[in-house]
Amino acid sequence: MKFSRLIQSLKLPNTKPQTLKVPDKFNRNSINVTSLMTPEQSGAWLLDRMRQQIGFETYADKKILDFGCGVRFSQAIINTSLPFGEYVGVDVCYEMIEFLQQRVTDSRFKFEFLNGFHPLYNPAGIVLSPDTRLPIDSDFDVACMFSVITHQHPFDCQSIFSILRRYVAAEGHLFFTCFLDDSIPAFADRSPEQNGGRCFYNPAYLRRLAEDCGWQFVNRAPSEGPIIGDSFVFQRDQ
Ligand SMILES: C[S@@+](CC[C@H](N)C(=O)[O-])C[C@H]1O[C@@H](n2cnc3c(N)ncnc32)[C@H](O)[C@@H]1O
Repeated sequence: MKFSRLIQSLKLPNTKPQTLKVPDKFNRNSINVTSLMTPEQSGAWLLDRMRQQIGFETYADKKILDFGCGVRFSQAIINTSLPFGEYVGVDVCYEMIEFLQQRVTDSRFKFEFLNGFHPLYNPAGIVLSPDTRLPIDSDFDVACMFSVITHQHPFDCQSIFSILRRYVAAEGHLFFTCFLDDSIPAFADRSPEQNGGRCFYNPAYLRRLAEDCGWQFVNRAPSEGPIIGDSFVFQRDQ
């Protein structure tokens, strides 16, 4: 489908007067997406895509852990009044998390700063390990990462997959988007600076990384234009 037609076919929500206004400096999304639609629209569309891919009827009774949360999904849920159970956002950007903690007063939301090392997003942080603890509950219906694995080298992927498994309920899911390339044996960071700017994975290699951390493969969906990369769903191994 041509991309302009894809955009027209998306059922994008009307954005109401903003309750959560976010300074531009906290925008984490590519111009290829922000030039086409508001963060509320892309956020709501992506959440609905994840809902369908996992098989949830609604988010109204769900508890979501958004790892590498940025601001977009908070904007989408709050500014379009999306039905939602609970939302916990974790990110390595201290200033952005502090902003969200101060501005979002709805008690269904919680935000936590994680001082994890990332060469681009938090160069002063501490390297994550599979044992890194998060100050959150451990009964989430899904842990999700949108445009986060696209910025991780394999060692950090392993740590993150292992960490998240501990915070998801027994029947819970893992959802993430990624850049895939069948022609590479394992992994390639295609950013000029080699700083996690644009990370590609061989699909079988990435799947095995998650499986080795206690996740069972459920399904995979192809990318759609610039809005969403390839995406995987896993379920927690018992
Ligand atoms: C491209 S942005 C995507 C933000 C959001 N998920 C979205 O789709 O709008 C990547 C986000 O992941 C965060 N991040 C990168 N590495 C991380 C890590 N190891 N732990 C937690 N957050 C991380 C960055 O700070 C940034 O906010």
